[in-house]
This record gives sequence, structure tokens and C-alpha cells, in this order.
Amino acid sequence: MSAPTDFRALREREFPFAARAPYLNAASFGPLPERARRALDAHTLRRAEAHALRGDDFEPTLVRARRAAARMVGGGEDEVALLPNTSFGINLAALALPVERGRRVLVGEREFPANVYPWQRLEAARGLRAELLPARPDGTPDEARMLNEIARGDVGIAAVSAVQFTDGWVAGLEALGRACREHGTWLVVDAIQALGQLPLDARALGVHVLAAGGHKWLCAPFGTGFAWVARELVDRMEPRVVGWTSMAASADLERVVDYRWAWVEGARRFEVATQPFHDYAAFAESLELLLDADSAAIRAHLLALLAPLAAWLESRGAEVAGGREPERRSGILAFRTGDTHGALRALEAAGVACVLREGAVRLSPHLYNQPEELERVMDVLDGVLPR
Ligand SMILES: Cc1ncc(COP(=O)(O)O)c(C=O)c1O
Repeated sequence: MSAPTDFRALREREFPFAARAPYLNAASFGPLPERARRALDAHTLRRAEAHALRGDDFEPTLVRARRAAARMVGGGEDEVALLPNTSFGINLAALALPVERGRRVLVGEREFPANVYPWQRLEAARGLRAELLPARPDGTPDEARMLNEIARGDVGIAAVSAVQFTDGWVAGLEALGRACREHGTWLVVDAIQALGQLPLDARALGVHVLAAGGHKWLCAPFGTGFAWVARELVDRMEPRVVGWTSMAASADLERVVDYRWAWVEGARRFEVATQPFHDYAAFAESLELLLDADSAAIRAHLLALLAPLAAWLESRGAEVAGGREPERRSGILAFRTGDTHGALRALEAAGVACVLREGAVRLSPHLYNQPEELERVMDVLDGVLPR
């Protein structure tokens, strides 16, 4: 058994910025750990001179990035396409998953728009109608309703976020995956709010396509991300955007005009063209750090950080958004008060990095945060919330 993660030591070594003021905003964007910043800087220095770039800076960097992404979701490297954000992956699923006309596409009505517009576009693009499923009165996804709809047998695609951006609700992917398998529905998961903060085994859960940008909980550069496509689907998904690196014949750079219509093996065919190698060098470092820290340990760390704050907020009359059950809670805590804007202003004035989303203050600590920072939040709000 490996030693338990020492989050405090990790913070000092890799996230020294965290000592300055509480950064509770990983759900918007995470910081780059030192080792990722160093990799990025070193790559940029070599890039500045062009001839200093080494063979390792190109394809081997991407191989390492794909390997880390695959490990993050319990999949294989051949199932990973490095894509610049979540939206590219969702669009890939929307445009390329084999679905017969007339079947329904289901999405929750409070999903982040990256997981809505690509589905709504399907009506014009493929004649498939997306239905927005109403949320429950507390704003959380109505999974029971989604399961019932899937059981009707006419749902082509169900698209969900693994963690809701508003309140941190953790999706019941196991039940959804089972229902989708039983009824011939493709399960597409927007995982940007989940990967890096909790374990997610896409294959074991029965996910078909998963998409995630790297810049939030994965602590990777903006413009990095990936899609994971279940191996058995790769050959069934015809790429809609085709580039030269999608093609096997381009592998030999000395003879690229020997055009031949054959895809590269695996999900790499969805990558299209030249990649930002420097950013994926940092992406690989960040993901490897998170893999070493262990996502189950990170999840436990975040739940332990937030539980006392949630209880205290409720004791002071605030409404904590999202599910109550521990399995539905994550590293996002959102709350409303009689004066939510006032609470936000007070936190901002105290230097606490957090945001307002859909009418609630959203706090999203990550592995570098420590209990004293959440205590600081309570101290600040103590002067604002009614007794
Ligand atoms: C659930 C969710 N999906 C997607 C995104 C972002 O999408 P993209 O990576 O395409 O910019 C966000 C936040 O910005 C989000 O919260």
C-alpha cells in the first residue's frame, strides 16, 4: 500500500501561491502546479530557439499526456483524443455517435451550456431532437426521471455532467450506465467538474464518450483537454472534422502527399492536426501529480474540508445547494443567504477567491486547501450572516 497523501507538504512544494489567500475557485480554473509550470517554461525556452526543441517535445509528449488522461478515467491510451476543451468532445459525440433518426436525446435542463448547445444543434445537423429534462425543485438533476425515460427504449443519447457546475451534485453514473447499456442508449459524460477531484472509472461505469477540459480540477493549461471514447465505438464514429494527423498516411513526414484514406488507429483520429505540445507537456505533469495524490484521497480531503462549513452555514440559516447524501457531495459547495451578494462581497473583500453562479456563492477548494482557509470563510461570514 502506498503512503497516504500528505496534502500539506504537497501544497508547500507544488502550490506555494496557496499560502497568500484562500483560493476556493477550482471549479472556474485551477492553478498550475510548480512542476507543470516548470515543464511549460522549459518547453517555451526551447521553443523560442526552435532548433533547441527535441524529439521528445513532440509525439512522446502527446503519448505521455494521453497515457495520463487514460489513467485518469480507467481507460486505454488508444481511447483518448487530446482536444482543446470539453465542448470539442461533446460535439464529437453529438456529430459522430451512431444514432437512428427518431430517437431522443436527453439532457438535464440545468447543465452547463457546453453540454446543451451541441445537442440542440443536432436537430438541424442530424434531425435529432434534444429534450431538456426538468430539474427537481431543489435544482438537482432528476435522475429518476432520466432513468424512466431511458427505460422507454427510444433514447439514443443521454448526456450528463459527472458533477454539476452549480452545486457540486455528483451524478449516479453507475445506475445511468446500467440503464443505458440495457436499453441501447449512448451515455455521454461532461467530466470537467469531476476529473481531478474524485475517482471516475469510465469503462466500469458504462460510459460511452467522456469529455473534459484540463483547466479546472486537472490544474492544466487553458486550451488542453481530452475526450475518452470507448474502444468498441472508435471505429463506429465517423470523424466529421478531418485533418492530416487523423490519417495513417501522414505518419511518415517525408512522404505526406502519398494520400491514402485510412484513419490512424484509435481515438487519436479525432485530434485533427498539430497540437500545442508545450501545453500538453504541462498537462501531463499536472495529471501525473493528481494521479500520484490519488483521486479517492483527494475526494476524502475535500469532503472533510467542506463538511464543517456546510453544517455551520446551515446553523446560520443559509441554504446549502445540492444533494444532502454524502455520495452526492463533492468539492463544490454553493450557498444562498438572505443577502447572497453581500456574502460574496464580504468574502471578496477578505481576499477569498470564489464566484457567484446561478444565484449562489460557489466555493470550490482543491487538494492544496487546508482547514484554516475554510475557517477563514466562517470568520468572514460570521460578520455578515444573521445570528
Ligand atoms: C460542466 C461544465 N462543462 C463545460 C465547461 C466548460 O466547457 P469548455 O471546456 O468547452 O470551455 C464548464 C465550465 O466552464 C463546466 O462547468
